[in-house]
Amino acid sequence: MSESGSAVGAGGQPARVILSGSLREAVNAPPTVYRAVGGQEFFDVLVDRFYDAVERDPLLRPMYPRDLRQSRERLAGFLAQYWGGPPRYSEKRGHPRLRMRHMHFAIGPAERDAWMAHMTASLDAATLADGTGRPLPAEIRSAMFDHFDNAATHLINQPGATPGQDC
Ligand code: HEM
Repeated sequence: MSESGSAVGAGGQPARVILSGSLREAVNAPPTVYRAVGGQEFFDVLVDRFYDAVERDPLLRPMYPRDLRQSRERLAGFLAQYWGGPPRYSEKRGHPRLRMRHMHFAIGPAERDAWMAHMTASLDAATLADGTGRPLPAEIRSAMFDHFDNAATHLINQPGATPGQDC
């Protein structure tokens, strides 16, 4: 199929313009979740609220560095990229390899559940960062929840406490 089109059409047809390379991709790209939620700002707020809760969590807090600024930036960058935003996370950190990057933290069912509880609360409080302040649409909330839920389970690297075990 030819990429070129006619100029302003006779009979009121809209003009077709010649698009090439990345401009054509940008214009024709399917809408992404990243755009629908209002871009990077949405992920920054989601992650800030999440880490504010982690900061007060006695189980999770000791796993993270004292200064959480970089942790916030990495998670927000990763999520923005995952949901269709610019690949800033990978430009800085390379391939995410999340399971490998979490190997040196002991993550059992309790840590996973605590992490999910904070992220679920943050999702529940989330509003669109598109200037309307509308709540997150149900289908986007549900897709994000499923992603977090699956990824968090995948990152478990310690067995849970077994029934009858001393604790
Ligand atoms: C299951 C419970 C989880 C725990 C306990 C946990 C814990 C941690 C810790 C301690 C760090 C290091 C923070 C730092 O060095 O600044 C980290 C980094 C990170 N986590 Fe998690 N995490 C969990 C689940 C997840 C999930 C579900 C995702 C993604 C959906 C995720 C994405 C990330 C990312 C992107 C980083 C930064 C990796 C890097 O570039 O070094 N984590 N996590």
